[in-house]
Amino acid sequence: MSANVVSILYLIAAVLFVLALKGLSHPESARRGNLFGMIGMAIAVIVTLQMSSVDNYLWIGLAALLGGGFGVLVARGIPMTHMPQLVAAMHSLVGLAAVLIAVSAVYNPQAYGIATAEGGLHLSSMIELFLGTFIGAITFTASVVAFTKLHGLVSGSPIVFKGQHLLNLILGLVMLGAGIMFCATGAWTPFLIMLAIALVLGVTLIIPIGGADMPVIVSMLNSYSGWAAAGIGFTLNNQMLIIAGALVGSSGAILSYIMCKAMNRSLFNVLLGGFGGDAPTASTGVKTDRPVHSGSADDVAFLLKNARSVVIIPGYGLAVARAQHALKEVVESLQKHDVKVRFAIHPVAGRMPGHMNVLLAEADVPYDIVEEMESINSSFADTDVALVIGANDVVNPSARTDPGSPIYGMPILDVGKAAHVVVVKRSLSVGYAGLDNDLFYMDKTMMVFSDAKKACEELVQAID
Ligand code: TAP
Repeated sequence: MSANVVSILYLIAAVLFVLALKGLSHPESARRGNLFGMIGMAIAVIVTLQMSSVDNYLWIGLAALLGGGFGVLVARGIPMTHMPQLVAAMHSLVGLAAVLIAVSAVYNPQAYGIATAEGGLHLSSMIELFLGTFIGAITFTASVVAFTKLHGLVSGSPIVFKGQHLLNLILGLVMLGAGIMFCATGAWTPFLIMLAIALVLGVTLIIPIGGADMPVIVSMLNSYSGWAAAGIGFTLNNQMLIIAGALVGSSGAILSYIMCKAMNRSLFNVLLGGFGGDAPTASTGVKTDRPVHSGSADDVAFLLKNARSVVIIPGYGLAVARAQHALKEVVESLQKHDVKVRFAIHPVAGRMPGHMNVLLAEADVPYDIVEEMESINSSFADTDVALVIGANDVVNPSARTDPGSPIYGMPILDVGKAAHVVVVKRSLSVGYAGLDNDLFYMDKTMMVFSDAKKACEELVQAID
């Protein structure tokens, strides 16, 4: 295959990747987006495999079989609620791959076609290797720590100590110095020192970041892994890797920014965890024994059947209970009674971006009744019943009213403006931010203390 044909096919793959990202921005087009991504990746892999520099098909085939097989097993077995840690684990592998490629390129530049006539490395290659290695190494260890925090293997609380930022600064400067030495000499020792410090930095940068900010960090690591891949793309002189890496890098950075905005967190504070000390991780718990109005499925069914308009607010508890299919049946039963039903999606409901959209799509809930926060918030005043299922923080009015609250300033769904509020959860326990919720104690609120799936199944019976 000529170089021109390779370039054109890579360009087609790059366009497909862009279309994939565009498709993934909306649930309705997400499947198509995924398909574009898969076709683009197939083209990129096939074109790369037929290059004359690629010859060891047995090893490549074995690795693809092993990695692919393991990937299928893990993806099939993982519950949706564990997706953030799976993503973190995958990013660690991207970082590790970037490091391993860089190490082998420094060890044997001839094999990569980047050696000088004397067998050393060009300055440009050394700079690329330096960038790819340190970003990859930080991504690797930081993602491993993020995985252990998200999976509950270690505490999600920030680990903060005196002089932490100074230590990180010193480590960063020594790493930079070793990197410059490597670029000046091409020697192994400064390269290995730079690599070792980058691995340590990945840990020290991430430990002060609290569990509540971890998903933003996972998305930032996604971005880092993209930049590491792009850096290695320069080393391997592979345009596809550069483009794909840059796409991952920039989309991850944009996603981190969007998540921070939705949680009212500053990206700067998240990245320098423990700096401003405003990470909403401290659990203030349920402080009072205030009375609540509780009700049964029959009470709720009566309210819902007599409503003209119902807005359902799903949250993390819906995912835990895997209640999306039962909830869809509730919607269908209400529609049979001519009740207008819509869903209100908060951008950080659940534990990962788009979590609720994916759940509802799984249950084939029509997209035209699913609305984002900005578009539905003004409708709550005309809503008869706001049905909150397994959500807590995203409907907590203290984000509006209590300047002392850790989530103060976070945009919330205005459910308190509906004529009636029904909250389905198992207890008065706190949500992710560890905060009591005044919504539960309002006169217009009826609490249904139940598992979300069981409550939905009972509701279907009671409505019909
Ligand atoms: P949360 O505030 O975490 O509340 C979920 C509620 O679900 C809990 O209070 C829990 O109460 C209830 N629950 C758990 N299992 C249940 C079950 N089987 N049946 C019924 N209810 C159940 O969830 P949210 O409102 O979706 O807010 C998301 C939180 O995660 C926010 O603080 C957000 O900032 C944070 N977060 C989200 C993201 C993204 S990108 N989505 C990223 C980082 C952080 P009980 O135990 O009483 O049942």
